[in-house]
Amino acid sequence: MSGSLEGAVVTGAGRGLGRLIAALLAERGHRVLVTDIDAAAARATAEELGPDVLWAALDVRDEEAVAAVRDRAVAETGGLGVWVNNAGVLLTGPAWDQSPAARRLMLEVNTLGTINGTVAAIEAMRGTGGHIVNIVSLAGLTAVPGEAVYAASKHAAIGFSVSTLADLRLAGTKDIDISCVCPDGIWTPMLHDKLEDPASALSFSGRLLRPADVVAAVRKVLDRPRPVTAVPGRRGLQARLAGALPALGLRALPLMVAKGRRVQRRMLAEARRDG
Ligand SMILES: NC(=O)c1ccc[n+]([C@@H]2O[C@H](COP(=O)([O-])OP(=O)(O)OC[C@H]3O[C@@H](n4cnc5c(N)ncnc54)[C@H](O)[C@@H]3O)[C@@H](O)[C@H]2O)c1
Repeated sequence: MSGSLEGAVVTGAGRGLGRLIAALLAERGHRVLVTDIDAAAARATAEELGPDVLWAALDVRDEEAVAAVRDRAVAETGGLGVWVNNAGVLLTGPAWDQSPAARRLMLEVNTLGTINGTVAAIEAMRGTGGHIVNIVSLAGLTAVPGEAVYAASKHAAIGFSVSTLADLRLAGTKDIDISCVCPDGIWTPMLHDKLEDPASALSFSGRLLRPADVVAAVRKVLDRPRPVTAVPGRRGLQARLAGALPALGLRALPLMVAKGRRVQRRMLAEARRDG
C-alpha cells in the first residue's frame, strides 16, 4: 500500500458510490474529508460516518476550491494519503439532442474535475507519497450509444490518468500511484431514474453491479494500485475488444442495446409491482 494512512478526500461523496468509498476509507483508518457539490449531503455522510469525519462543500469544476480543500485536508489530517475523484454526472441522449450546457457539464465535472483533483493531490503527496483513485467507467474504454459525451468525458479521464502516471514515473516519482476503476452500470441514484430512458440501455446490458461490488474493487486497488481496473473484468475485456476493433464493436452494439432495454423493462415492471 502506498501513502500514509492519514488523510483521505473523496469527491461526490454525498450519496451513491462516493458515500460508500468514504465509509471504506474511514473503516481502513483514514481521517476522511467527505466532499460534494451538495453541502447538506456531504454533511449527512460525514455525520453518519462518525465524529472524526470532516466534510466540505466542493464543486470539482472549481480548481481553486479543489486546491483549498486539499490544503485543508493536509492541515487537518496530518498528511494526505488518498484522494478519490468520484464525482460524476450522466446526462443521456445523442450529443446532437443535448444542450451545449449539458455537454459542457459532463466534460467539466467528469474530466476537468478529475484533472483538478489529481493535480491538487499530486502537489500534496510529493515527498510523502500517496494514491489517487479515479472512478471512471467502462464508458471510458469503449463506444456507448446514448451516452456519447459521457463516454468522451470518461475516455479523457482515463487518458489523462494513465498519461499523468507515466509523467510521474518519467520524472522519477515512484511513490505516487494513480488507479482508475472502471465499473459497468451500478445501481446507484445515477441510474435510479433511468429505467424509462432508452438512451441509457447499454448501462443495463450487463449484470447490474451493486455499489458494494465496486467498493470491493476499490478496496483491492487501495491494497495494490493498478493503472486500470474494469469491474467486472469480463465486461472490461469485451469493452476493450470492442474499443480495439470498432467495426466489430459497432455490429454488436444493437444486440447489447436490445438486451439493456429488456432489463430496463423487467426492472420497471418489478418496481411498479412492488409499489
Ligand atoms: N452508476 C453507474 O452506473 C456508474 C457506472 C460507472 C461509473 N460511474 C461513476 O461512478 C461515480 C459515482 O457515481 P454514482 O453512481 O455514485 O452517481 P450519483 O449520481 O449517485 O453520485 C454522484 C455524486 O456526485 C456529486 N456531484 C455531481 N456534480 C458534482 C460536482 N460538480 N462537484 C462535486 N460533486 C458533484 C453529486 O452531488 C452526487 O453526490 C461517477 O464518477 C460515475 O460517473 C457510475
